[in-house]
Amino acid sequence: MKRNQYRPDALIEVLHKAQELFGFLSPALLTSVARSLHLPPSRVYGVATFYHFFSLAPQGDHTCTICLGTACYVRGAGDLMAAAEDAIGVSVGKTTADGRFSLASARCFGACGIAPAVIVDGVVVGHVTPRDLSARLLTLQASPSEDEPHP
Ligand code: FES
Repeated sequence: MKRNQYRPDALIEVLHKAQELFGFLSPALLTSVARSLHLPPSRVYGVATFYHFFSLAPQGDHTCTICLGTACYVRGAGDLMAAAEDAIGVSVGKTTADGRFSLASARCFGACGIAPAVIVDGVVVGHVTPRDLSARLLTLQASPSEDEPHP
């Protein structure tokens, strides 16, 4: 915030940095940002909940976001969501109990030309089939977590 001179118009940049530093945007963090940038808390909360890349809860080690925008939806995003939920055993908007996976949806990544599109661990993947996505997620699930010692 100091780098941006506490300017209210730097809100999105500040929220990005806060999420990068803390992993997610907690209510206390949003309140602190609102106070420091002299913005109403409702405005800060509104921005944080509008953009899909902001998270208000801790995320899993791996994240999968499935686009449910129109282009992706007509090309089978609903089937992708069902496959992902089945593969990792969690419903959209949730994180697995072991903290390994978070599954989310979004309205459009701006990658409609490669619909249906998903973002897995920050990487956009296009023309995805339910079978491809299941395989990708199951491979990640089988890989050791960063907390586990490597053999
Ligand atoms: S609708 Fe999915 S990327 Fe645009």
